[in-house]
Amino acid sequence: MTKLYEKLTLKDVTLRNRIAVSPMCQYSSVDGFPTDWHLVHLGSRAIGGAGLVVVEATAVSPEGRISPGDSGIYTDDHVEPFARITRFLKEHGSVAGIQLAHAGRKASASRPWEGDKHLGNDEGGWDTIAPSPIAFGDKLSKHPKEMTLHDIERVKGDFVRAAERALAAGFNFLEIHFAHGYLAHEFYSPLSNKRTDAYGGNFENRTRFLLETFAAVRQVWPERFPLTARLSVTDWIDGGVTIEQSIELTRQLKSAGLDMLDVSHGFVTPDIDRVPWGPGFMIPIAGRIRKEADIPTTTSWSITESQQAEDALQQNQVDMVMLGRELLRDPYWPYHAAAELGAEVSSDLLPVQYARAVD
Ligand SMILES: Cc1cc2nc3c(=O)[nH]c(=O)nc-3n(C[C@H](O)[C@H](O)[C@H](O)COP(=O)(O)O)c2cc1C
Repeated sequence: MTKLYEKLTLKDVTLRNRIAVSPMCQYSSVDGFPTDWHLVHLGSRAIGGAGLVVVEATAVSPEGRISPGDSGIYTDDHVEPFARITRFLKEHGSVAGIQLAHAGRKASASRPWEGDKHLGNDEGGWDTIAPSPIAFGDKLSKHPKEMTLHDIERVKGDFVRAAERALAAGFNFLEIHFAHGYLAHEFYSPLSNKRTDAYGGNFENRTRFLLETFAAVRQVWPERFPLTARLSVTDWIDGGVTIEQSIELTRQLKSAGLDMLDVSHGFVTPDIDRVPWGPGFMIPIAGRIRKEADIPTTTSWSITESQQAEDALQQNQVDMVMLGRELLRDPYWPYHAAAELGAEVSSDLLPVQYARAVD
């Protein structure tokens, strides 16, 4: 039996297979509002057979957007355009997920194809906030304002209201972005958090923002729907967060109601020399966390081959695979991989409009 095409049940939500579209910014929103691009881009991957489609990092406040083109869910008016997308995804057999994010000191940047660099306030950018007033560096040179306790409360509240709107829009899988050097990771990592109050210093203080935000969202996100987080489990750099610390944090998040960890890495500093890039390099780390924190895991990073994905599942390293770039190359990867593995698949892997013609 092929595991990749076994259903996966998390809480009351069942995925038709264990293939998820990893959240990927499209930088194609207007004032946070998703556009026709999103409907077609995300909808294509539902038609392509993914069990779960996760909408890109969606900002909980305007200042939390990476770029002016980022997706956002910071007013009630944002709900309906997202609802149009969730209806389509569900109609075509995918579970509709969304990643909620705040970009912290990495916000206010230009789109990647426009240079990926900080925008001045006279170029459409804005003032940024972070746990400490330290710039990321490289092309993201803006100095953020150090968050006050009032700012921290406000941002936690922004996450809560964004989660309520995501629910209203019909999402039933929520991932909180605690990774990639954005705001939550900036609190977690000693490389970016130099605070001396209750939100900085030792492990307990540096994880406080993450745990409090998670607990506040769990209060409004229904128990019947999975609540997950994407965590950079290592900074790969001396003095940064380690896998051992991340296992402890995962255990605490699990006690607070975490249903699955999306295991990711790095990007809190521009220094990525030590990342052991290669096919599926995060899979063994996801496997270790799955075992030691005793929680379902998923991961991404250069998972491109059907057998590679199947092996990661068979070896109990992950419960689901997340594919990013490979699903950009081929939205029908779930269909092609099933053929390669000779898998028995659910009847809705291809939409009825296509199925009779191509089977
Ligand atoms: C265009 C693009 C946009 C991305 N945007 C996000 C994002 O919004 N949130 C996130 O957590 N990761 C983001 N990522 C990272 C992917 O989700 C994924 O983890 C990464 O690309 C590694 O998986 P892959 O090798 O299958 O592409 C992005 C990656 C790409 C290529």
